[in-house]
Amino acid sequence: MSDVFSPQHEKETLSNLSAVYKLQMSDEIFEKLSQFIYSQYGIKMPMAKKVMLQSRLQRRLREMKMDSYEQYCDFVFSKEGEAIELVHMIDVVTTNKTDFFREPAHFDFLRHTVLPEFVALNKQKTTIKIWSAGCSSGEEVYTLAMVLSDFIENNRNLDYSILGTDISSRILQKAFDAVYTEERVSNIPLELKKKYFLRSRDRAKPTVRLIPEIRKKASYQRLNFMDDSYHVQEKFDVIFCRNVLIYFDRDTQQKVINRLCSHLKSGGYFFLGHSESITGMNVPLVQLKPTVFMKI
Ligand SMILES: C[S@@+](CC[C@H](N)C(=O)[O-])C[C@H]1O[C@@H](n2cnc3c(N)ncnc32)[C@H](O)[C@@H]1O
Repeated sequence: MSDVFSPQHEKETLSNLSAVYKLQMSDEIFEKLSQFIYSQYGIKMPMAKKVMLQSRLQRRLREMKMDSYEQYCDFVFSKEGEAIELVHMIDVVTTNKTDFFREPAHFDFLRHTVLPEFVALNKQKTTIKIWSAGCSSGEEVYTLAMVLSDFIENNRNLDYSILGTDISSRILQKAFDAVYTEERVSNIPLELKKKYFLRSRDRAKPTVRLIPEIRKKASYQRLNFMDDSYHVQEKFDVIFCRNVLIYFDRDTQQKVINRLCSHLKSGGYFFLGHSESITGMNVPLVQLKPTVFMKI
């Protein structure tokens, strides 16, 4: 077996690293990339984000053994680059910050208002369909799944399914794998952890994984909010689209909400993140709480 961490290797890696760290992205290259990112993915990239983009792309340059951002830019806009690099670039550009039980009031509202109402309205056996749009690494999807699983224990006529979509393939793979560090799940109530997670046997690198019964309720799909129409077949009862629209300008936000609403049933619920709003927008939603809406 080759010793990949030999002192020689370390020396070479460090010298490559420092060569890349010295690289600077010109304003012109930044403009080209940022305009492309905005037009293709809707993500705003003002000049203030140049240092962030530069540092996030460094790893890609290193991996491809490129020594300038010009070279990288030429590659991204070539036929070959379009086919193989864009998927990596979007992984680097997106901000995937998320958490289990993030903004917990939404899950309380779901548990105490939406679900009992749904059961009261549907006397027959029925499935509630939920879409986590911009799901990142799956924490939102599995939080919903735990809340739903707990609820259906006493409401046997109800079943559920959750679709998670995101533009980043790397992050969708993480969501699909459903493996998290102990630290990531530290804010989940102990009783839920005991019920819905399995511990890895590797005590040196302790991780947990959602149980198969929960994982099978979730499906994942790559979807770009900037597409003219969304390739999802069904209509949903609930859509969570939280902490995604903040990266878009107002016009894009309105278009995305309207497209999402075309996949939401009348009377269905729509949830936004705490710093997002629909004020002044022409969208088919009425506000129930600051970030909770119903489709009209
Ligand atoms: C900050 S995370 C929010 C995750 C989760 N909804 C939450 O609130 O914790 C935003 C997610 O939106 C995704 N995203 C950004 N632009 C997108 C686009 N144009 N189409 C689809 N997803 C996008 C990112 O990849 C990222 O995973």
